[in-house]
Amino acid sequence: MEKLVIQGGQKLQGTLPVSASKNAALPLMAAAILPHGITYLDHIPELRDITTFSHVIRITGASVERKNHRLQIDATRVGFPESPYDLVKKMRASFYMLGALIGRCGQARVSLPGGCAWGPRPVDLHIEGLKALGAEIDLDEGYVVAKVPRGGLPGGNYRFEPSSVGATVNLLLAASLGRGGSRIENAAIEPDIIVFCEMLKTMGAKLDGVGTRTIEVQGVPELHPIKFSNCPDRIELGTFMIASAIAGTPGKPIRLTHARPDHLGEQFLEAFQNTGSGCIIDDDSVIITPPETIKPVSIKTAIYPGFPTDLQAQWTVLLSCAKGVATVTDQVYGDRFNHIPELARMGLDARVSGNQVLVRGGVQLTGTRVMSTDLRASVSLVLAGMIAKGTTHVGRIYHLDRGYERLESKLNRCGIDIRREQYDEFGAPSQG
Ligand code: UD1
Repeated sequence: MEKLVIQGGQKLQGTLPVSASKNAALPLMAAAILPHGITYLDHIPELRDITTFSHVIRITGASVERKNHRLQIDATRVGFPESPYDLVKKMRASFYMLGALIGRCGQARVSLPGGCAWGPRPVDLHIEGLKALGAEIDLDEGYVVAKVPRGGLPGGNYRFEPSSVGATVNLLLAASLGRGGSRIENAAIEPDIIVFCEMLKTMGAKLDGVGTRTIEVQGVPELHPIKFSNCPDRIELGTFMIASAIAGTPGKPIRLTHARPDHLGEQFLEAFQNTGSGCIIDDDSVIITPPETIKPVSIKTAIYPGFPTDLQAQWTVLLSCAKGVATVTDQVYGDRFNHIPELARMGLDARVSGNQVLVRGGVQLTGTRVMSTDLRASVSLVLAGMIAKGTTHVGRIYHLDRGYERLESKLNRCGIDIRREQYDEFGAPSQG
């Protein structure tokens, strides 16, 4: 297995480029199997999740080729409408194949994703929503088996409660190639959804109301293959903003390039500025000036444009540097706190109660061996390692590799002492 070894206390400086968005790339890839022919997707990050999803797509008969940051998906021969458990269990977004295969093939057999590292994460809205649009759905030995009536998906109305990114993607994939019209209420308005809808529209889908809570879809008989370019990763941008605030030199600006700060949502930007950190937006760059003292700012996660749940673990590390007490409340996933016991091993003073963590800042973290439990938890441990005294070993970084492209080389170039090493998790205990 691999781990990251971080020598704490080095200052982050210079320019950090933000990679392309993982969460936007996945629905774009699913959309690429809707038309017959070759779709080219540019600005796709080189990440484990993209590799996993490429395998999922290949199972259907499509070919996926990756060169640098371009994907070439040839969906001419999609003919096997199935996504097996072994792949879906690795990455929940594989469940996008349900909507994509209903759209393309009129039938699908897709494994249920099961739980995730921080709780059950249901898919009931995906299934109920697709049924409301006219799909016939059964569960069979852990698989969702779907088919559409003769003549195509009739379409229908569905209101999400709560609003769901993934379920909105699935319904749009299926409805775009439906026979009739559909109306999706309380649809997700996350930037990833807007980019995905732009791609569908460019392929010829008839969508109205994109970016609002109500999307109307008029099904069309076919879509055409296109060239499309993905957007920058908003969660990586937020992570780097937090890294700059806590590990930079006070008063010395750090430039984050290739960014879309408008994709972060107002609440994150406001909370970030309230910490005392300088934040200037200059075209596609964000310039962060670390403050002398970080102010404790409590946050509550919420769907877009609320504070992203994918940035709360990193925010907890920022609060450890603040002077005072503040809370992190997760209203999207009430038990997403697996990183807290690991951060506590580094000296974090935090108490979890229900869906809230109370953090007492101002404690110097110290390096030790810690373990990644999920993607965002693992990057919070890397941030903690950067500001800790001594050496931090972050194990099981396959979680991190799902969503952060070349993280250690980017940080290395900006002055952080971080390296990747092999280790044997079940071998004899070693130093460090
Ligand atoms: C996406 C993101 C993930 C992020 C999450 C919330 C991707 C690949 N993943 O996940 O990084 O953390 O949005 O911003 O883009 N829900 C149900 N039933 C369902 C579906 C969702 O109750 O069938 C609930 C969830 O438990 C959660 C809320 O709806 O409380 C929002 O989840 P959702 O937007 O669906 O998250 P994902 O699309 O899975």
